[in-house]
Amino acid sequence: MSFPITRNRRLRTSAALRSIVRETQLTANDFIYPIFVTEGTGVKSEIGSMPGVYHWSLDLLEQEINEIAALGIQAVLLFGVPDHKDEVGSEAYGNNSIVQRATRKIKEWQPDLLVVADTCLCQFTSHGHCGVIRQDERTGRADVDNDASLALLVKTAVSQAEAGADIIAPSNMMDGFVQAIRSGLDEAGFEHVPIMSYSVKYASAFYGPFRDAAHSTPQFGDRKTYQMDPANVREALREAESDVVEGADMLMVKPALAYLDVLRLLKEQFDLPVVAYNVSAEYSMVKAAAMQGWLDERAIVLETLLGMKRAGADIIITYFAKDAARWLQPR
Ligand code: PBG
Repeated sequence: MSFPITRNRRLRTSAALRSIVRETQLTANDFIYPIFVTEGTGVKSEIGSMPGVYHWSLDLLEQEINEIAALGIQAVLLFGVPDHKDEVGSEAYGNNSIVQRATRKIKEWQPDLLVVADTCLCQFTSHGHCGVIRQDERTGRADVDNDASLALLVKTAVSQAEAGADIIAPSNMMDGFVQAIRSGLDEAGFEHVPIMSYSVKYASAFYGPFRDAAHSTPQFGDRKTYQMDPANVREALREAESDVVEGADMLMVKPALAYLDVLRLLKEQFDLPVVAYNVSAEYSMVKAAAMQGWLDERAIVLETLLGMKRAGADIIITYFAKDAARWLQPR
């Protein structure tokens, strides 16, 4: 007895046929584009380890923002690179600080473009940690003080919402940050502003180029007492679950590429939109190889982003957003 062979190739015989059976479509609508804003004037300086990504001073930013909107990208994610840092990250929550000013400007230039504000202290603290530091009296060891940090993160989120941020994206990984920020926003009259929580953020080497860009490398120790161990996935469910209970509106997994199994799991277990952060080193690796002529950048980038979407991402934060949006335009 012989079995018939299965003709899977039947649905691949022409571009049109492949197109009507395609399961996943990538569009510019899927992307959020990160932007680094800085003090001063006349600044458009390229970040060494991230070719094509710049620090922008506000006087030069308008044209860039208009270009992003014209490409059909719906949202930008703002990172502030301040002139002044201190122990408690004061520049993170000043009403006239860089992120707050940039937000007001962008909403003036492009009212419909969503401004997502990264809510963290690490770019603004002299020690480079995501919260305030307290020395343990018995052990003498210094670590981030969870609850003292929460108060400052709430202040940061409220000042960002006051400036006009459409979405608050807390990336600090303190316990209880979603609950604290949700109540803080509600009390200040921002019940309508959603929280995109960096729910599952691993202590990853893939943030290296970002820390060059944001000048946010910790001056002592590392982030392992608050960011997650890359070996753990059940713990990721616990992190996501607590954020859902505390009122998160979207759940993020970060980095993306090495953690697509985690992303998939969150997609299956929860009914909130899931966000993938295609982080700085994922960008730099592709850029470096492309600059050597070792790969086809466009094909690699589109395949990678498509893979993230197929794995379950509803939204992808990526430094490739502008390039990919251009490549996806109908020709
Ligand atoms: C701030 C923050 C980081 C990134 C986004 N928000 C750095 C970190 O946690 O060290 C990394 C983004 C990237 O690598 O592209 N906490």
